[in-house]
Amino acid sequence: MSNTLAINGGTPAVPPGTVKPWPPVDEVDRQMVMASLEGGVHTFGPNCTALEAEFAAWNGNRYAVTTNSGTAALHLCLAACDCGAGDQVIVPAYSWSSSATCILHSNSVPVFVDIDFDTMNLDVTKLEAAITPKTKAIIVVHLHGLPMEMDKVMAIAARHGVAVIEDACQAHGARSQGKKVGTMGHCGAFSCNQNKLHCSGEGGIFVTDDEERLRKARQLWSFGETATPAESRDYHAYALGWMYRNNDLTAAFGRAQLMKLDSYLEKIKQNAQVFRQALEGTPHLIQPEEPEGCESNWYNYTLRFDMEALGHAEDAAAFRDRLGAAMRAEGVDTGVWQSFILPAMTVFQAMNGYGQGCPWDCPYQEPVDYSLEQYPEAQKHCDSHTGLTFPLRPPNGPEVAEMTAAGIRKVMENVGKVP
Ligand SMILES: Cc1ncc(COP(=O)(O)O)c(C=O)c1O
Repeated sequence: MSNTLAINGGTPAVPPGTVKPWPPVDEVDRQMVMASLEGGVHTFGPNCTALEAEFAAWNGNRYAVTTNSGTAALHLCLAACDCGAGDQVIVPAYSWSSSATCILHSNSVPVFVDIDFDTMNLDVTKLEAAITPKTKAIIVVHLHGLPMEMDKVMAIAARHGVAVIEDACQAHGARSQGKKVGTMGHCGAFSCNQNKLHCSGEGGIFVTDDEERLRKARQLWSFGETATPAESRDYHAYALGWMYRNNDLTAAFGRAQLMKLDSYLEKIKQNAQVFRQALEGTPHLIQPEEPEGCESNWYNYTLRFDMEALGHAEDAAAFRDRLGAAMRAEGVDTGVWQSFILPAMTVFQAMNGYGQGCPWDCPYQEPVDYSLEQYPEAQKHCDSHTGLTFPLRPPNGPEVAEMTAAGIRKVMENVGKVP
């Protein structure tokens, strides 16, 4: 391979058209979606009920509820844990926006905890200090598919009598001490959107093992009613409800993809191993770690650039963007996942949730502080990362992982030539 960077006119390391899109779709998907279409029930239907049973069995939960997004499933978790006015909920300072905005939807207030740079997950050593008498729940996010050390989280939560919500939106099949995510906290949320490893286009799944939490979640899920559309309903709003139900076509696609999920997870793991080996020794590149007992599903293979060593600690995000542009010119399908830490987002800095200061100004609430210097690790990660998803997923195999790694290595070995 020539050393001339593609961004400077050289030949791309990964030829155009090499990386195939996600997810693979076959006859099983086609048949199940067409059967739903012909089946005549297009709202919450038999495929939804079947998906709930099948996902619960696959993950090892007693109950699952299909929703129209992972965000909706997260909101159900807040309801299932009785979070309301005056409550605080702890969440990592770096995640998807709705890991934290779901807290506002339950009229509670987020309290952010910095992340651990190495794992990119909430820093469990800082968790206990963030718990106050107002804390009702902790949302842990298994970010990029790497599970939290749940035994530590659960021990802290038990000491303080607070609930644990697992944001497992990215983490299907990941395991902490051998246990699948979504089975260790009091309830959990998965996303099934286009990028997720269990994809149905859009959609989500709420899981719990607790019947009472299931009841509370189901009530919020369907107009505050007490019965599902599959049961006899009185169309009465017993509590505040939303419309978070899934539909039959989406659930049919979700069921078809669930049948193939274990084989996808196995292939992604193999591709990630090949990728890691091919990247070994690449200058100024920080590879993701799997701490002892934590098994990632490699949802997003996230790399960081060593900005201190590169001499770009001061302008890290701008330099990272230049490296990213050079990599994309090589045909490497890489990108920045989140370019803002959560507390820096306007909704939190301006406290403009429901207007008039709500929920922060609620008379039952204590003031919280979102000054950004509290989250140095989240900011450092945010400014120095880039991630990969599709190149490591089927139908792409190890040869695509190797080509992609070669493109990254080429840029990092010629970093002085990056325009
Ligand atoms: C960590 C995390 N939480 C929550 C969500 C929300 O999921 P959805 O997009 O299905 O609402 C996502 C997905 O984008 C996510 O990555």
